[in-house]
Amino acid sequence: MKIPIEHPVLKRRSVKKISSEPLDKKVVMELLEAAGSAPFHSKVEPWHVYTIETDAQKNRYFQAVVEGFAAKADAPLTEAKKADLATSQQKKVGESPLILIVTSTITGDEKKDFEAICAVSAFIQNFQILAFEKEIGTLWRSGKFIFEQAFQEKLGIPADEKVMGVFALTRVTELPAAKSRRSASEWIKEI
Ligand SMILES: Cc1cc2nc3c(=O)[nH]c(=O)nc-3n(C[C@H](O)[C@H](O)[C@H](O)COP(=O)(O)O)c2cc1C
Repeated sequence: MKIPIEHPVLKRRSVKKISSEPLDKKVVMELLEAAGSAPFHSKVEPWHVYTIETDAQKNRYFQAVVEGFAAKADAPLTEAKKADLATSQQKKVGESPLILIVTSTITGDEKKDFEAICAVSAFIQNFQILAFEKEIGTLWRSGKFIFEQAFQEKLGIPADEKVMGVFALTRVTELPAAKSRRSASEWIKEI
């Protein structure tokens, strides 16, 4: 058996280059709904999605990123440094018509949290594959700031959720090169 190269799993690429071209939010919502068919092993699905669309929401997000970096820094950040960080985020994702933050419910129980994070990863990958099929590009972003409570607090994301990633959606305007993968024979081993 050979999986055809046009199979959605093999076709998907991360898309870093962001275009400001509008996206149909209704389509994105349908893709998220479908991504929610991911497996999960808790009473309710562990994933949550926060949307950032307007300039005001984007500014709040940039400020949250700055708060996240500030919480990580050894010394208080100067106002100039904070402004630089906000500008750099603006350059990275500001053009995106729709930014998603995906989180997972966490409880402090190792097994439950492991299962929740795995389920949300499956949800994310479902979404990335479905979106790429509709020429909507994603890149899983896990900047250091996502691990900071200060980042979450600024956005009103509850403390019992773990931020899994930020996804600045974009129309796919050019096909990024495929990142090569090792042959399965290199990582499949007999016990
Ligand atoms: C959990 C996770 C976190 C990631 N974080 C980042 C990130 O912070 N910045 C980035 O440029 N890419 C990030 N990526 C994207 C990977 O770099 C990308 O998937 C990889 O290079 C393979 O490329 P492909 O997705 O086009 O196959 C992340 C991917 C995963 C699974």
